[in-house]
Amino acid sequence: MSLIGTLFDAPSRLTALDPVAARAGALADRLLPGGRVRALLHGRPFGHPAHPAMAMLPVGTSISALLLDAAASALPGGRGLHAPARGLAAVALASAVPTALAGWADYTGLHRDQQRTALVHATGNAVAVTCWAASMLTGRRAALLRTAGTLAAGAAGALGGHLSYRWAAGANHAEHLPHLAGAAQREHVDIGALEDLPDGELTRRHAGDAPLCVLRRGSSVRALTDTCTHLGAGLHGGEVREGPGGPEVVCPWHGSAFRFDDGRVVDGPATAPQPAVDVRVADGRVLVRVDGPPQS
Ligand code: FES
Repeated sequence: MSLIGTLFDAPSRLTALDPVAARAGALADRLLPGGRVRALLHGRPFGHPAHPAMAMLPVGTSISALLLDAAASALPGGRGLHAPARGLAAVALASAVPTALAGWADYTGLHRDQQRTALVHATGNAVAVTCWAASMLTGRRAALLRTAGTLAAGAAGALGGHLSYRWAAGANHAEHLPHLAGAAQREHVDIGALEDLPDGELTRRHAGDAPLCVLRRGSSVRALTDTCTHLGAGLHGGEVREGPGGPEVVCPWHGSAFRFDDGRVVDGPATAPQPAVDVRVADGRVLVRVDGPPQS
């Protein structure tokens, strides 16, 4: 593996961080609000994780401040550019707070190795925020502090990107499922006899290579793709509950809930809908077509 990949993978193996990781998760559960505010922090209403989108503001403004500070030093008579750089650093500082809260909310639903990386990412950002805050309190070394903060935020941001792309935190873990369904992506295919499905219980079946979470109630059958969009748990190991839009399945790992009828996320840290499955029962046989996620 490349040097950068090795370097960015290293935090995930720092088991010494585990006591801190556990404490940070417990604190988040205690201090962060639940309900709609927590849903907003995750980004559920937008169908997209909020944290990376929110991070654009502190990152963008701090990089702009860095460029202004550099221009102030390089251009004759450019000293006046330090003032707008200071304003941009103030915006970076203020916007870092809600960004951090969104990241902290997402942190609670990560695996432990992902949490270790997230802790190092957060530490880099804490250094950045400290530098930006200190730059507000001093005159002489303010530009230097702003630059140091931006470099720390840049390194932390790169690690955050590695956490998302290499370690799949925040990624949709079910996007590929319709592509595994083979013919069931285009037409209804037979997955077995109705009488072979347990009544009133979640069970796992397959359409092609796509795993399905199937719920039979008498002669009625509902199904969703089985791999949770949040981090990939098997939904058939979860629970069924009744929601205003019909039955929902609650993921056994972090409590994301998806509506059976269309796969919409109605609870928990997931932001991507579950690829939906159209079910028909004919002549005692169960036929399914894997439709993909609902259009928002
Ligand atoms: S894997 Fe986290 S809610 Fe399903």
